[in-house]
Amino acid sequence: MQLIDGNQTAKDIKAEIKQQVEGIIARGGKQPHLAAILVGHDGGSESYVAYKIKDCEAVGFKSSLIRFEDDVTETELLAKIEELNNDDDVDGFIVQLPLPRHIPENNILEAINYKKDVDGFHPVNVGRMVIGLPAFVSATPYGIVELIKRYGIETSGKNCVVVGRSQIVGRPMSVLMSQKEMNATVTVAHSRTKNLKEVCANADILICALGSPEFIKANMVKEGAVVIDVGTTRVPSQETKSGFRLKGDVLFDEVAPKCSYITPVPGGVGPMTRVSLLQNTLLAATKEIYS
Ligand code: GUN
Repeated sequence: MQLIDGNQTAKDIKAEIKQQVEGIIARGGKQPHLAAILVGHDGGSESYVAYKIKDCEAVGFKSSLIRFEDDVTETELLAKIEELNNDDDVDGFIVQLPLPRHIPENNILEAINYKKDVDGFHPVNVGRMVIGLPAFVSATPYGIVELIKRYGIETSGKNCVVVGRSQIVGRPMSVLMSQKEMNATVTVAHSRTKNLKEVCANADILICALGSPEFIKANMVKEGAVVIDVGTTRVPSQETKSGFRLKGDVLFDEVAPKCSYITPVPGGVGPMTRVSLLQNTLLAATKEIYS
């Protein structure tokens, strides 16, 4: 069993990005700039955005944080998005989700200029990704593909089961795995799937993105499988300073001995999600996807 080290891989990629940024600056180019809109004070969102800002600093990007209170109106948010769309210094920006219930999320995501949509949530980016055109791909699936490639894991002709069909992880993940580059035979399993245990146990590559801590047990995993755990549920813990710890979707201690490769939680997919946003921001700054 080999542990897939997301921390180390993300560190390697960050060093590569930093080097590219230094090159851009040395050639007299503009410092890449990521902006983030954060609404309210949700603990998870606060810490995710803080990490994003810290990551920008680490690779030499400029970052801007724009905050609104929970009672912000849709009109106010749309006005800020329009401003960022038209700000030539901002290469890419994100609106941290979830938004308060009175704001229709789709209206907000669709207002972002897709050329600056480094989260890859805009329908133009999702659509282009599905038909195999260059696009911003959402961070978690992008990071998982990068891990699979960098570990030299064979995907061609393999049975890949994706558990979960969310718009930002399961669905795009299933599309990427079935495309020409990866060539896997993909099954998308979800809450209505019958015989989930048997479906999972047939997977050569099992990607778990259901958000249910330790749901995937050893009897659901084939001997020698590659297991990618996307789960990051916060469970209360007295052993940590923060008062919680992250649990994956996989019962790690029981499943790991059966795997050829497995990602731990934390330290597997999470760091790769963070680094993917940096990769997308660099692609936006260098205009490699859209001119
Ligand atoms: N909320 C949870 N994950 C994400 C993400 O990748 N991007 C944004 N904007 N919000 C999120």
